Amino acid sequence: MPSFVEQIEPLKQAALAELRAAVDLAALEQARANSIGSHGKFTSLLKQLGALPKEEKPAAGKALNAAKAELEQALAERRRELELSAALPKEPTDFTLPGRRRVVGKLHPLTQVTEDIVRSFRKIGFVVDDGPEVEDEYHCFDELNTPSDHPARDTQDTFYLQSRATTGQQKAVPSVPAASAPVLLRTHTSSVQIRVMEKQQPPVRIIVPGRVYRRDNADATHNPTFQQVEGLYVDRNVTVGDLKGTVEFVFKELMGPETRIRFRPHYFSYTEPSFEIDFGSSLTRKMGKEWLEIAGCGMVHPQVFENVGYDPEIWTGWAFGFGIERIAMIRYGINDIRLFYENDLRFLKQF
Ligand code: DAH
Repeated sequence: MPSFVEQIEPLKQAALAELRAAVDLAALEQARANSIGSHGKFTSLLKQLGALPKEEKPAAGKALNAAKAELEQALAERRRELELSAALPKEPTDFTLPGRRRVVGKLHPLTQVTEDIVRSFRKIGFVVDDGPEVEDEYHCFDELNTPSDHPARDTQDTFYLQSRATTGQQKAVPSVPAASAPVLLRTHTSSVQIRVMEKQQPPVRIIVPGRVYRRDNADATHNPTFQQVEGLYVDRNVTVGDLKGTVEFVFKELMGPETRIRFRPHYFSYTEPSFEIDFGSSLTRKMGKEWLEIAGCGMVHPQVFENVGYDPEIWTGWAFGFGIERIAMIRYGINDIRLFYENDLRFLKQF
């Protein structure tokens, strides 16, 4: 029977061998439990120390502690090795390969143009407002002084919906106040002029980018859905000069400093006088044209002010509206409006 001290060395060697042979962290933990864990072989040897004769205890204790320290060191070393190899890639790795690129998305060209327009108007004190795309006839036509026999109201030109009165769905169109008014997809953003003036007193200085709907067949220059920007400025003593200066400022920002603006008399029922705006620049000349019609505008008609409860003797104002696609097409030299809606990445990546 080997003496107590003689048992230490072989136990230690066996434990060391097991620790060093551990192939992963789980095996290492098992090896630790087998030797210096609370039920391990080495620990049970330690527990027998107390039963030794007094004169043998110091030497035996010292040998045991030295062996335990050695085991703990071996354990820590093997753990470090295993942790390191667990963190390394399993396959051979070529660190000189190029990294994986993340494809960064972009804003749609129409969104970019809209944001540029909004940025320019913000510089001169305009704020963005909004209104419903499902609109009633009052806001889309009547209150804009457009009589019911006006061609713009022809059911052939616009998308009418079954109104709440006919469907009985009171909550289907929550933003539409008049229960009996026929409901349609708005044909222009001008309806938002009315909605804003109904809810706030002058001064008003807004722009309204938004989607509008017309019963047009899609071709290179038409689409049943497109985007407009509406503008409305109401204050005391507002003039056509203010209108022209504002339009000139924004279009120069959008289309370049050599852009020129021209007003031609026109008719809109909600403005008087009314104009169409032409613009000319190197961009239009590239398209073979000195001038291109770009927007409608005018001084807000007194009847419109009456309709929203503004006193036309006190308040004056102007309004305009233009199509965003048209601006984007001229700006980028795009010859087919449908390209904006096809979501072909080869097209979109160019902007
Ligand atoms: N609503 C017109 C359209 O859809 C554009 C327009 C013309 C807007 C004159 C206006 C305006 O505010 O004053 O073609």
